[in-house]
Amino acid sequence: VARQHVEVALTHQARLIANALGPPPADVIAAAHDKGMLVAALAGKAAHARAQVANGVDIVVAQGHEAGGHTGEIGTMVLVPEIVDAVGSGAAVLAAGGIGSGRQIAAALALGAVGVWMGSAWLVTEEYEKATSTPALHDALLNATSSDTVRSRVYSGKPARLLKNKWTQAWAEPGAPDPLPMPLQNILVAQAHRRLNNAGDPDVVAMPAGQIIGRLNEVLPVADLIADLVREADRTLTRLGTVASPPSQAAREL
Ligand SMILES: Cc1cc2nc3c(=O)[nH]c(=O)nc-3n(C[C@H](O)[C@H](O)[C@H](O)COP(=O)(O)O)c2cc1C
Repeated sequence: VARQHVEVALTHQARLIANALGPPPADVIAAAHDKGMLVAALAGKAAHARAQVANGVDIVVAQGHEAGGHTGEIGTMVLVPEIVDAVGSGAAVLAAGGIGSGRQIAAALALGAVGVWMGSAWLVTEEYEKATSTPALHDALLNATSSDTVRSRVYSGKPARLLKNKWTQAWAEPGAPDPLPMPLQNILVAQAHRRLNNAGDPDVVAMPAGQIIGRLNEVLPVADLIADLVREADRTLTRLGTVASPPSQAAREL
Protein backbone atom coordinates (compact mmCIF):
# COMPACT_ATOMS: atom_id res chain seq x y z
CA VAL A 1 0.00 0.00 0.00
CA ALA A 2 2.84 2.42 0.86
CA ARG A 3 4.32 1.94 -2.61
CA GLN A 4 0.93 2.77 -4.19
CA HIS A 5 0.88 6.00 -2.16
CA VAL A 6 4.38 6.82 -3.42
CA GLU A 7 3.32 6.17 -7.03
CA VAL A 8 0.46 8.64 -6.63
CA ALA A 9 2.74 11.19 -4.94
CA LEU A 10 5.25 10.93 -7.77
CA THR A 11 2.58 11.95 -10.32
CA HIS A 12 2.29 15.34 -8.56
CA GLN A 13 4.71 18.23 -8.85
CA ALA A 14 5.73 18.23 -5.20
CA ARG A 15 9.18 19.45 -4.13
CA LEU A 16 9.42 17.13 -1.14
CA ILE A 17 8.27 13.67 -0.17
CA ALA A 18 8.51 12.68 3.50
CA ASN A 19 8.46 9.20 4.98
CA ALA A 20 8.06 7.89 8.52
CA LEU A 21 8.16 4.50 10.29
CA GLY A 22 11.23 3.05 8.58
CA PRO A 23 13.79 4.18 6.01
CA PRO A 24 12.41 4.85 2.54
CA PRO A 25 13.73 2.14 0.14
CA ALA A 26 16.67 3.25 -2.04
CA ASP A 27 14.69 2.70 -5.28
CA VAL A 28 11.86 4.94 -4.02
CA ILE A 29 14.39 7.65 -3.17
CA ALA A 30 15.95 7.30 -6.64
CA ALA A 31 12.50 7.55 -8.29
CA ALA A 32 11.74 10.73 -6.29
CA HIS A 33 15.12 12.21 -7.24
CA ASP A 34 14.43 11.42 -10.92
CA LYS A 35 11.30 13.59 -10.60
CA GLY A 36 13.32 16.41 -9.03
CA MET A 37 11.92 15.83 -5.52
CA LEU A 38 13.84 15.91 -2.26
CA VAL A 39 13.24 13.05 0.19
CA ALA A 40 12.87 13.52 3.94
CA ALA A 41 12.55 10.82 6.59
CA LEU A 42 11.57 10.97 10.26
CA ALA A 43 14.02 9.52 12.78
CA GLY A 44 13.56 8.90 16.51
CA LYS A 45 17.05 7.43 17.05
CA ALA A 46 20.53 7.92 15.58
CA ALA A 47 20.35 4.37 14.15
CA HIS A 48 17.23 5.30 12.16
CA ALA A 49 19.03 8.36 10.79
CA ARG A 50 22.10 6.35 9.74
CA ALA A 51 19.93 3.83 7.86
CA GLN A 52 18.04 6.65 6.14
CA VAL A 53 21.23 8.38 5.04
CA ALA A 54 22.65 5.06 3.81
CA ASN A 55 19.58 4.73 1.57
CA GLY A 56 20.08 8.26 0.20
CA VAL A 57 17.62 10.63 1.93
CA ASP A 58 18.29 14.34 1.59
CA ILE A 59 16.74 15.47 4.87
CA VAL A 60 16.54 13.71 8.24
CA VAL A 61 13.82 14.96 10.58
CA ALA A 62 15.06 14.33 14.13
CA GLN A 63 11.75 13.97 15.94
CA GLY A 64 11.74 13.81 19.73
CA HIS A 65 9.46 12.09 22.25
CA GLU A 66 7.32 15.16 22.89
CA ALA A 67 6.11 15.31 19.26
CA GLY A 68 2.56 14.67 18.10
CA GLY A 69 1.93 11.48 16.14
CA HIS A 70 4.18 8.41 15.99
CA THR A 71 7.11 9.17 18.20
CA GLY A 72 9.98 7.44 19.99
CA GLU A 73 11.38 7.62 23.51
CA ILE A 74 14.23 10.16 23.23
CA GLY A 75 13.48 13.83 23.91
CA THR A 76 14.23 16.47 21.24
CA MET A 77 16.94 18.11 23.40
CA VAL A 78 18.98 14.90 23.47
CA LEU A 79 18.03 13.54 20.05
CA VAL A 80 18.83 16.47 17.77
CA PRO A 81 22.58 16.81 18.50
CA GLU A 82 22.87 13.02 18.54
CA ILE A 83 21.43 12.80 15.03
CA VAL A 84 23.31 15.87 13.78
CA ASP A 85 26.57 14.19 14.83
CA ALA A 86 25.54 10.76 13.47
CA VAL A 87 24.58 12.18 10.06
CA GLY A 88 27.51 14.56 9.60
CA SER A 89 27.45 15.99 6.09
CA GLY A 90 25.31 13.09 4.80
CA ALA A 91 22.00 14.97 4.98
CA ALA A 92 20.42 18.15 6.30
CA VAL A 93 18.86 17.70 9.75
CA LEU A 94 15.61 19.36 10.81
CA ALA A 95 14.51 19.33 14.46
CA ALA A 96 10.96 18.27 15.34
CA GLY A 97 8.96 17.69 18.48
CA GLY A 98 7.90 20.43 20.86
CA ILE A 99 8.51 23.39 18.58
CA GLY A 100 5.87 26.12 18.63
CA SER A 101 7.72 29.39 19.17
CA GLY A 102 10.66 31.37 17.87
CA ARG A 103 12.63 30.60 21.02
CA GLN A 104 12.28 26.91 20.29
CA ILE A 105 13.40 27.45 16.69
CA ALA A 106 16.50 29.25 17.97
CA ALA A 107 17.11 26.35 20.38
CA ALA A 108 16.86 23.86 17.50
CA LEU A 109 19.46 25.84 15.54
CA ALA A 110 21.67 25.89 18.62
CA LEU A 111 21.42 22.09 18.76
CA GLY A 112 22.83 21.89 15.23
CA ALA A 113 19.68 21.55 13.11
CA VAL A 114 19.48 23.66 9.95
CA GLY A 115 15.74 24.22 10.47
CA VAL A 116 12.60 22.88 12.10
CA TRP A 117 9.67 20.66 11.18
CA MET A 118 6.42 21.38 13.01
CA GLY A 119 3.15 19.48 13.28
CA SER A 120 0.92 20.31 16.24
CA ALA A 121 1.13 24.07 15.73
CA TRP A 122 -0.76 23.83 12.43
CA LEU A 123 -3.75 22.28 14.24
CA VAL A 124 -4.47 25.60 15.94
CA THR A 125 -4.79 27.72 12.82
CA GLU A 126 -7.71 29.26 10.94
CA GLU A 127 -6.90 27.15 7.88
CA TYR A 128 -7.08 23.87 9.84
CA GLU A 129 -10.33 24.90 11.54
CA LYS A 130 -11.93 25.75 8.20
CA ALA A 131 -10.75 22.49 6.63
CA THR A 132 -12.02 20.26 9.44
CA SER A 133 -15.02 22.07 10.99
CA THR A 134 -15.24 19.85 14.08
CA PRO A 135 -15.79 22.32 16.97
CA ALA A 136 -15.26 19.74 19.75
CA LEU A 137 -11.85 18.90 18.32
CA HIS A 138 -10.87 22.56 18.08
CA ASP A 139 -11.99 23.16 21.69
CA ALA A 140 -9.97 20.16 22.88
CA LEU A 141 -6.84 21.36 21.07
CA LEU A 142 -7.15 24.93 22.33
CA ASN A 143 -7.84 23.98 25.93
CA ALA A 144 -5.25 21.19 26.28
CA THR A 145 -2.31 21.81 28.62
CA SER A 146 1.14 20.34 28.04
CA SER A 147 0.15 17.48 30.41
CA ASP A 148 -2.86 16.54 28.31
CA THR A 149 -1.20 14.21 25.80
CA VAL A 150 -0.31 10.54 26.05
CA ARG A 151 1.80 8.14 23.99
CA SER A 152 -0.53 5.28 23.13
CA ARG A 153 -0.99 2.47 20.58
CA VAL A 154 -4.75 3.20 20.36
CA TYR A 155 -4.55 5.20 17.12
CA SER A 156 -2.57 2.97 14.80
CA GLY A 157 -1.07 0.05 16.73
CA LYS A 158 2.32 1.83 17.07
CA PRO A 159 3.07 4.35 19.84
CA ALA A 160 1.73 7.77 18.86
CA ARG A 161 1.25 10.88 21.00
CA LEU A 162 -2.44 11.83 21.17
CA LEU A 163 -4.70 14.13 23.16
CA LYS A 164 -5.29 12.38 26.50
CA ASN A 165 -8.97 12.03 27.32
CA LYS A 166 -11.74 9.56 28.23
CA TRP A 167 -11.13 7.61 25.00
CA THR A 168 -7.39 7.04 25.55
CA GLN A 169 -7.99 6.38 29.26
CA ALA A 170 -10.65 3.73 28.49
CA TRP A 171 -8.04 1.81 26.47
CA ALA A 172 -5.60 2.05 29.39
CA GLU A 173 -8.04 0.66 32.01
CA PRO A 174 -7.16 -2.69 33.60
CA GLY A 175 -8.91 -5.37 31.54
CA ALA A 176 -9.13 -3.23 28.37
CA PRO A 177 -8.04 -5.10 25.23
CA ASP A 178 -4.53 -4.53 23.88
CA PRO A 179 -4.52 -2.48 20.69
CA LEU A 180 -3.99 -4.59 17.56
CA PRO A 181 -0.70 -4.39 15.63
CA MET A 182 -0.35 -1.86 12.82
CA PRO A 183 -2.23 -1.60 10.42
CA LEU A 184 -5.12 -3.48 12.03
CA GLN A 185 -5.72 -1.08 14.93
CA ASN A 186 -6.35 1.85 12.61
CA ILE A 187 -8.76 -0.25 10.55
CA LEU A 188 -10.54 -1.18 13.80
CA VAL A 189 -10.94 2.34 15.16
CA ALA A 190 -10.95 4.68 12.12
CA GLN A 191 -14.75 4.90 11.83
CA ALA A 192 -15.20 5.20 15.59
CA HIS A 193 -12.66 8.06 15.59
CA ARG A 194 -14.62 9.90 12.92
CA ARG A 195 -17.82 9.51 14.96
CA LEU A 196 -16.10 10.60 18.19
CA ASN A 197 -14.64 13.70 16.55
CA ASN A 198 -18.07 14.68 15.22
CA ALA A 199 -19.96 13.81 18.41
CA GLY A 200 -19.48 17.25 19.98
CA ASP A 201 -17.71 16.16 23.20
CA PRO A 202 -14.15 17.56 23.51
CA ASP A 203 -13.32 14.87 26.07
CA VAL A 204 -13.51 11.94 23.65
CA VAL A 205 -11.93 13.26 20.43
CA ALA A 206 -9.21 11.12 18.86
CA MET A 207 -6.34 13.28 17.71
CA PRO A 208 -2.54 13.13 17.44
CA ALA A 209 -1.03 16.16 19.20
CA GLY A 210 2.32 16.90 20.83
CA GLN A 211 3.10 18.41 24.23
CA ILE A 212 3.53 21.84 22.63
CA ILE A 213 -0.26 21.92 22.19
CA GLY A 214 -0.36 23.29 25.76
CA ARG A 215 1.26 26.53 24.55
CA LEU A 216 -0.93 26.96 21.48
CA ASN A 217 -3.85 28.89 22.86
CA GLU A 218 -4.76 31.28 20.08
CA VAL A 219 -6.12 30.49 16.62
CA LEU A 220 -4.11 32.40 14.01
CA PRO A 221 -3.89 32.41 10.22
CA VAL A 222 -0.82 30.35 9.19
CA ALA A 223 0.85 33.46 7.71
CA ASP A 224 0.59 35.30 11.06
CA LEU A 225 1.89 32.29 12.98
CA ILE A 226 4.91 32.04 10.68
CA ALA A 227 5.57 35.79 10.96
CA ASP A 228 5.47 35.51 14.79
CA LEU A 229 7.82 32.50 14.74
CA VAL A 230 10.35 34.26 12.53
CA ARG A 231 10.19 37.48 14.55
CA GLU A 232 10.75 35.72 17.87
CA ALA A 233 13.51 33.49 16.46
CA ASP A 234 15.31 36.56 15.10
CA ARG A 235 14.96 38.43 18.40
CA THR A 236 16.22 35.41 20.32
CA LEU A 237 19.23 34.86 18.09
CA THR A 238 20.14 38.53 18.39
CA ARG A 239 19.82 38.37 22.20
CA LEU A 240 21.94 35.22 22.35
CA GLY A 241 24.55 36.77 20.09
CA THR A 242 24.89 39.52 22.67
CA VAL A 243 25.08 37.09 25.57
CA ALA A 244 27.65 35.01 23.71
CA SER A 245 30.11 37.88 23.35
CA PRO A 246 30.43 39.45 26.81
CA PRO A 247 34.24 39.80 26.68
CA SER A 248 34.18 42.09 23.63
CA GLN A 249 31.15 43.91 25.06
CA ALA A 250 33.00 44.36 28.33
CA ALA A 251 36.09 45.50 26.42
CA ARG A 252 34.07 48.11 24.54
CA GLU A 253 32.68 49.44 27.78
CA LEU A 254 36.10 49.78 29.41
C1 LIG B 1 -2.16 15.46 13.59
C2 LIG B 1 -0.79 14.97 13.24
C3 LIG B 1 -0.64 14.04 12.22
C4 LIG B 1 0.62 13.58 11.86
N1 LIG B 1 0.73 12.68 10.83
C5 LIG B 1 1.96 12.33 10.40
C6 LIG B 1 2.10 11.48 9.27
O1 LIG B 1 1.12 11.00 8.68
N2 LIG B 1 3.35 11.18 8.83
C7 LIG B 1 4.45 11.69 9.46
O2 LIG B 1 5.56 11.41 9.01
N3 LIG B 1 4.35 12.47 10.56
C8 LIG B 1 3.13 12.80 11.03
N4 LIG B 1 3.02 13.61 12.13
C9 LIG B 1 4.26 14.06 12.84
C10 LIG B 1 4.71 15.38 12.22
O3 LIG B 1 5.22 15.15 10.91
C11 LIG B 1 5.80 16.05 13.06
O4 LIG B 1 7.01 15.33 13.02
C12 LIG B 1 5.42 16.29 14.52
O5 LIG B 1 4.13 16.78 14.62
C13 LIG B 1 6.42 17.27 15.14
O6 LIG B 1 6.19 17.48 16.50
P1 LIG B 1 5.19 18.62 17.09
O7 LIG B 1 3.83 18.01 16.94
O8 LIG B 1 5.61 18.74 18.50
O9 LIG B 1 5.37 19.83 16.25
C14 LIG B 1 1.77 14.05 12.54
C15 LIG B 1 1.61 14.98 13.58
C16 LIG B 1 0.35 15.43 13.94
C17 LIG B 1 0.23 16.42 15.06
